[in-house]
Amino acid sequence: MPKTRRILITSALPYANGHIHLGHLVEYIQTDIFARFQRLCGNQAIYLCADDTHGTAIMIRAQTENRTEQELIASMRDAHLADFEGFQITFDHYGSTNSVENRSLCNHVWQSLRKQDFVAQREVSQLFDTKAGIFLADRFVRGGCPRCQATDQYGDSCEVCGATYSPAELTKPISTISGTAPEIRKAEHLFVILEKLRPFLKTWTQESGALNSKISNYLAGHFLSEPLRDWDISRPAPYFGFEIPDAPGHYWYVWFDAPIGYIATTEQWAKKNGGSFADWWCSEDKNHPRAEIHHFIGKDITYFHTLFWPAMLQIAGMNLPTKVRVHGFLTVNGQKMSKSRGTFLLARSYLDHLNPAALRYYYATKLSGGIDDIDLNLEEFTTKVNTDLIGKFINLASRTARWLKETGLSPTYPDDGGLFAQAAADGESIASAYESCDFARAMRLIMQAADRANQYVDNEQPWKLAKQGPQEQQRLQDVATVSLNLFRQLVVYLTPVLPKLADDVAKLVGDPITDWQQSQTPLENLPVSTFRPLMNRIESTQIDALLAASTNTLSTSQGDTVTETSHTTGTEPGEPIQDSAEALESDPLAETCTIDDFSKVDLRVARVIHAEEVPEARKLLKLTVSLGGDDRRTIFAGIKKFHQPEDLCGRLVVIVANLAPRQMKFGLSEGMAVAASGAGAEGVYLLSPDSGALPGMRIG
Ligand code: MSP
Ligand code: ZN
Repeated sequence: MPKTRRILITSALPYANGHIHLGHLVEYIQTDIFARFQRLCGNQAIYLCADDTHGTAIMIRAQTENRTEQELIASMRDAHLADFEGFQITFDHYGSTNSVENRSLCNHVWQSLRKQDFVAQREVSQLFDTKAGIFLADRFVRGGCPRCQATDQYGDSCEVCGATYSPAELTKPISTISGTAPEIRKAEHLFVILEKLRPFLKTWTQESGALNSKISNYLAGHFLSEPLRDWDISRPAPYFGFEIPDAPGHYWYVWFDAPIGYIATTEQWAKKNGGSFADWWCSEDKNHPRAEIHHFIGKDITYFHTLFWPAMLQIAGMNLPTKVRVHGFLTVNGQKMSKSRGTFLLARSYLDHLNPAALRYYYATKLSGGIDDIDLNLEEFTTKVNTDLIGKFINLASRTARWLKETGLSPTYPDDGGLFAQAAADGESIASAYESCDFARAMRLIMQAADRANQYVDNEQPWKLAKQGPQEQQRLQDVATVSLNLFRQLVVYLTPVLPKLADDVAKLVGDPITDWQQSQTPLENLPVSTFRPLMNRIESTQIDALLAASTNTLSTSQGDTVTETSHTTGTEPGEPIQDSAEALESDPLAETCTIDDFSKVDLRVARVIHAEEVPEARKLLKLTVSLGGDDRRTIFAGIKKFHQPEDLCGRLVVIVANLAPRQMKFGLSEGMAVAASGAGAEGVYLLSPDSGALPGMRIG
């Protein structure tokens, strides 16, 4: 019997200021599959998570919603837990960073920092919103880029040229909270002097085996080759968080207390289940820790988990993560999830219309343990679930189980030409694929075995045997026994991904699946109960309903955070920008106009609520756009070659709203959608405003 491993598994703690969406679920489903796999193998695996409750964003959302932070985080917690339960995520404990355990552990780490002289104090100039009375975090300031002068950029980085800077450097900064111009104010901040730990971090990131090589190379190239900047970990009041005991009026920055939340959650789990957090996080012999620690995170929070966090653990004398498993971001139909395109898909909307098992399976087929983004292509999703999971896999049971209702399984497992043994031998490769989070490979191996099993059924044709009367009864029972066993063997392999299916199949043969080793021995001599369909096909109407719901949630979920990767321009920070002059040369600028000339043209944000082809016109699409309220317009736009009507539905565009209506062959056009074209290129590029803009807003 191999020694049982003790494994502590975490997902990143979701912010308590937004609902769970399908992007988050890439992480929670992935971690859950890993945790379930470990438990199935007999390891002691505990899967822990918590809400991340502190910080400016939560404070502001609570203020806007006119309730206390406590109320906000309590109701968000309920919503998060319901969503996770809907997707069959099995946390062993779900905590909160706003807990007594967390406060006391933060203090413990803090004392270690102080004792070992890791804390420095300095004055910092920060933008202060005088109307709201708060210091502004980077994401609450927009303004002109100090490098390329592009307007309306984030407080920490420019999406146009990739420059990074501090918000105080922005030209004409505006607070996104009050819309007023902030002033620069000075405040004392506390810093962790990370540079002292650079040698340790270099060794740990490069040699411990905790990180995949892409991540360690990235850290070596981007951070560890030059002195590490001090990490600013305090915020002056007002701030929603823990006040620093030896610095009244100052609070720990949310990213200090959030990862410590992993330990606090372990402590809460231990209070219920025995032991203490130290059983998992502390060891006398650092080379032989008493437990493994596996963190699952998205790539956007890499340096918090691979630099700051190991540094804190090291200073506090605690165990370091065994693995930090970094995954990519979810795109929907090839694009970043977007509220305006109606592809910001909430967990709840999905659960209202579709089966969670389908998404668990689909994500499993897409996740290979790397950091590449993964795409939820809704067409591929439907096909994979309907063709592979249902058509190929579930069908194995539906084609054969019913023949066994009267007789049960054969008394001894019949000769199957080596099929069961072959798939049993695959068990090791499938297990190692799960272990390395290459679930895509595990799914491929399983589906290949399903192909072989289907081939067997096709050859043996049980439905023909059934018609041939009593003399073939024995043969029919044997064929069905083999088929059902081949199916159930794969169900064991799929249990981490499809737990509900595993339960239902267990009921069919009255033998619960609790152990990976059950894939190695066929079942014999058991009654088989009535077969009930195990899963339904996905219908296109369900997908349509999900998309419609996601367009409708726009106005109500405006406050949700959209996690976006920083540099979306395709330019790495620091890379020089060199665009071709062709567009301007082929179409020189028009004569100078005055602001009055410009304001005659009333440009407005509009939402496309319907788009269809005009069959008789080569170039035209007919759009129905809304300017908010009941104001709807019909617009004919020459973009048929470049846009699918269904992709346009829900997105925001810019229209000339006061253009005199024009009677066209196909109807009256009541405006014009603004688009870019030229430079000898064929494309027509519709303009869209930044997220947050609403139909009817004026552009100028
Ligand atoms: N609160 C921090 C984590 C603190 S951990 C000590 C946070 N929260 S989050 O709600 O924004 O994200 C939670 C996790 O979901 C992160 O690992 C993040 O990378 C992941 N994802 C959020 N949006 C995602 C996608 N669109 N796609 C894939 N993962 C995404 O970060
Ligand atoms: Zn710039």
